[in-house]
Amino acid sequence: MDTGKSPELSLADLLERVETSAIASIKGTVSGILSIISDPAASSSDLIQLIEVDPPLAAKILRVANSSYYATSRTISDIHQALIWVGFDTLKEIILTQKMSELFHDGMSVCGYSHLHLWRHSLAVALLAKTIYRREFGEKGNNAYAAGLMHDIGVIVEDQLLHREFISMVQAMEKSPQALTEAELSLFGYDHGRVGRALAEKWNFPAELIEGIGFHHNPEGASEKHCLFTKTIFIADYLMFEQGYGYVRMPLPDREILQQYVRDLGLQWYALRLIVELVREELGQIEQKGYLAV
Ligand SMILES: [Fe+2]
Ligand SMILES: [Fe+2]
Repeated sequence: MDTGKSPELSLADLLERVETSAIASIKGTVSGILSIISDPAASSSDLIQLIEVDPPLAAKILRVANSSYYATSRTISDIHQALIWVGFDTLKEIILTQKMSELFHDGMSVCGYSHLHLWRHSLAVALLAKTIYRREFGEKGNNAYAAGLMHDIGVIVEDQLLHREFISMVQAMEKSPQALTEAELSLFGYDHGRVGRALAEKWNFPAELIEGIGFHHNPEGASEKHCLFTKTIFIADYLMFEQGYGYVRMPLPDREILQQYVRDLGLQWYALRLIVELVREELGQIEQKGYLAV
């Protein structure tokens, strides 16, 4: 948090500082989960090992397994049983989500920006990106979920490690609205996409995630191979901001850009609107039941 020291850091210095911060403690777990997600040979016992050393996480998984989503006449009290009940993919999502939520602790709120709002935004983008992949492309969407959840990790880093400057920037944006990335570029010389990409590279994330996180505001920067994936994150980010799941007050990019990406992905607006509605309902249920609360 704010150390009271000034000046801005170079990107290299910022990354260096990440290694000794709270972000670093998340790194190991997130990298571990991602390698399990991307490894087809990974087994449920790999995940159970991660869960068993983390009591709050184990409690959350049991809570989900015993929820009405998975309604059953008996009560599940064993992690192995819970795993069978909720399934491997859902379990991975719960772990990843729980670990990420550890980065959003306090109740600080400035000019519409708060950790809670940033957390809701990240989760909303994750769910929307995943649901687009599932319903429109017939894929599991695990990487889309992971990229959505972590796409603004650069914002978390700036907030935690350049706190004073970051908060002044948010306050200045309130008076003269501009895109967050523009404000960051003029203040720090880099934006949160650049920070996220550098971290994802440093942590050896899969290329798809590196690009999805790094270029979510400018998908043209992504390689051809991951361009559509990155555009999906852009679309999810845009639509959830529009739906009130933003975390800072700022003008959205030109809507024509969004429409172009929707065409590039071959998505139909009526289908997309339906998916957004489903995700809003899901978020409402999650918030109501408090499964993924901060
Ligand atoms: Fe962003
Ligand atoms: Fe975002």
